[in-house]
Amino acid sequence: MEHLVNSKVRQIELSGIRKFFNMVANYEDVISLTIGQPDFDTPQHVKDAGIAAIEQNYTTYTYNAGFIELREAASEYLRKKYDLNYSPEDEVIVTVGASQAIDCTFRTLLEEGSEVILPSPVYPGYEPLIKLAGGTPIYVDTTENKFKLTAELLTPFITEKTRCIVLPYPSNPTGVTLEDDELQAIAELVKGKDIFILSDEIYSELVYRKQHRSIARYIREQTIVINGLSKSHSMTGWRVGLLFAPAAVTKHLIKVHQYNVSCASSVSQKAAYEALTAGFDDAKTMKDSYQDRLEYVYNRLVNMGFDVVKPDGAFYLFPSIKRFNQTSFDFALSLVEKAGVALVPGSAFSKYGEGYVRLSYAYSMERLKEAMDRIESYVKNE
Ligand SMILES: Cc1ncc(COP(=O)(O)O)c(C=O)c1O
Repeated sequence: MEHLVNSKVRQIELSGIRKFFNMVANYEDVISLTIGQPDFDTPQHVKDAGIAAIEQNYTTYTYNAGFIELREAASEYLRKKYDLNYSPEDEVIVTVGASQAIDCTFRTLLEEGSEVILPSPVYPGYEPLIKLAGGTPIYVDTTENKFKLTAELLTPFITEKTRCIVLPYPSNPTGVTLEDDELQAIAELVKGKDIFILSDEIYSELVYRKQHRSIARYIREQTIVINGLSKSHSMTGWRVGLLFAPAAVTKHLIKVHQYNVSCASSVSQKAAYEALTAGFDDAKTMKDSYQDRLEYVYNRLVNMGFDVVKPDGAFYLFPSIKRFNQTSFDFALSLVEKAGVALVPGSAFSKYGEGYVRLSYAYSMERLKEAMDRIESYVKNE
């Protein structure tokens, strides 16, 4: 009966990150730096709010868009942090993680054959959702520009069919982000065209040495901002995402959201409210720790001779492995087998990720140190 499964579903594949993670799970004594998930516990006061929600029987459906105090808190959070203004009544939706916000956006915006531009190497979560919504992913190679999309790189890819441009900064897998003037130039190019920008800002609280900026400041009417609590408050399993869009678009997004999930988990919503209000700056301690680890791992890689762009955010490094003359998959496999360290092959992030590997430094310093020592001996012996 498998042949009756929808052809679009049959054609998409499981994420390369997960595949590699599952594959190396069978090897013994391997230090895995493969997963993009904070290694901190959810802050205690947030966990307590979740427990209290259960005890107080806050366990029923909420408004489809999320309970209003949470939407108010989310709106206030965005205003104070990033100077963006969205009305809690009709411009904010609480979703089931950023993932559902992304799915909801593509299904709301795309027609059969719509093109979606992805600056690449890119997070593998977009392509399957674009395809399921009938769209076509269009990859723009950013490898020659330190992984940054620019208005110049973008221009030749804009066609009559372009419906959406994804701006995933700070980036998974590269950690780079765009400067204010770079965002403004892209906004200038897209303004007035029949094109939306999906601005995935899930790592906005993890930006080092500078202030995170959203492109919505320059092109609000055409932008859908996606954020959430997964990375900022170490809440990946609570599944809370946030979607902000102009009212005229939100009133359609909410229909897709409603028929898809009704609402995000009521218990998680209560915890999210606590996180966005009492935990306004919870990300700071985690960020300081990631920054120390970034400095450490970056310096070690540079000293080993790796060509690597120094990231501005998130918790990933994306070193080139081109000098080893192997595919990223073969390199990663050989690293597992001979050095006992697992990194994600760059090819999991589109064909433009070939020649690189992704390293997540959301792991303890001790583990990172041991992993770096192992990679160093491997590199010396190759
Ligand atoms: C760029 C990017 N967007 C979205 C997500 C999904 O976030 P969530 O766990 O909130 O669904 C991730 C998760 O790794 C990500 O890296």
